[in-house]
Amino acid sequence: MLNRGTRLTAWLALQKCPVMVQIMLVVSIIVALVLLFHKSDENPIPVNVLENQKWNRFESLVQFNPEREFRNGTDLIWQIPDSPKAVIFLAHGCTGRAANFWDRSSKCPKCVGLPEERFITLHALARKYAVLTVSSAGECWTFDKEKLIVEDIIRWWVKRQKLEKLPLVALGASSGGYFVSALANDLKFSSITLMIIEGLFDQMDIIEGYPPTLFVHMPKDVSRRQKITEFMQVLKNKGVEVSEIECMELPLSPTFLSDRIPGLNQTVSARLFNLFKEKGFIGEDGYMKRDGRATSWRKALQESKITLLKKDLEHPVEEELNLAFAYHEMTSLQSEQIFNWFESHMT
Ligand SMILES: *[C@@H]1O[C@H](CO)[C@@H](O)[C@H](O)[C@H]1NC(C)=O
Ligand SMILES: *[C@@H]1O[C@H](CO)[C@@H](O)[C@H](O)[C@H]1NC(C)=O
Repeated sequence: MLNRGTRLTAWLALQKCPVMVQIMLVVSIIVALVLLFHKSDENPIPVNVLENQKWNRFESLVQFNPEREFRNGTDLIWQIPDSPKAVIFLAHGCTGRAANFWDRSSKCPKCVGLPEERFITLHALARKYAVLTVSSAGECWTFDKEKLIVEDIIRWWVKRQKLEKLPLVALGASSGGYFVSALANDLKFSSITLMIIEGLFDQMDIIEGYPPTLFVHMPKDVSRRQKITEFMQVLKNKGVEVSEIECMELPLSPTFLSDRIPGLNQTVSARLFNLFKEKGFIGEDGYMKRDGRATSWRKALQESKITLLKKDLEHPVEEELNLAFAYHEMTSLQSEQIFNWFESHMT
């Protein structure tokens, strides 16, 4: 951004050069028109973030009560609400696993319940979706044998649960988004959501009847945004319906972490917020200055000599810092729009 001095100099230069003023005026009008038409074309859905976003807001509606099974060398975790109206397959990103989508419980003692993942699951269950999660065999998903295995698992599971008549949708984040974009060429999804990823559309022959595709992405990741814009056009040219939701950065507050992370209380949340501010990780405006992964907040925490945070809460905190920075992270903040969108494509 220009500071006042440069702005003044630029203005003085313009005063001396009226032609320049006219050119700039014309350029601004063109830019404004391009933005206007670009926006109305892509139809981004408005996002009211952080409204009713407390970690326990689903408590009265739905409880975690998942089933688990080991099959084809991987871990399946699922839950089916009463009278399900659809089935959703959720695919984690690299280093993720099925257990991240479910809170720890007697049914699933090894479950982890990361804040964004668990929110997505709860949203789905509250809306009466049967939720199926599977772990990737390695750190990230792969696209040869693993793709066939997981397709086989989904078909088998849907049949065994007698859910074949229901619409099937999928949501994958990052590596999971690549994976879902590839599965959609083989399985019959009514629609799919690709989160923070452009999909594998430059590496596959998109089938006739490829499902409507919603891109939920963080425009701060500029190169990915460009690819998404490019691939949306590729899909449109194939007659595939596309849409996008842009996820913007959010300011932190003293209760941001305690609002979103189960087991982290307001005292700890406020102390972390103050520490991060003191250390300059958060600006005066409350926004993260860098991605959580690139911020040495764990070190600052150790040095502060206050044992504030239980070890198992570090991962959730980092996820929320990444979410606030809005560069590349799983996000549940747009769940309402995502599920509305799924439901508007279930003919
Ligand atoms: C998955 O496991 C089942 C049961 O053990 C087996 O019948 C099926 O062929 C396996 N699928 C693949 C793709 O390996
Ligand atoms: C908040 O959590 C911390 C760490 O687990 C604990 O020491 C503290 O007593 C808790 N405070 C309140 C008010 O519950």
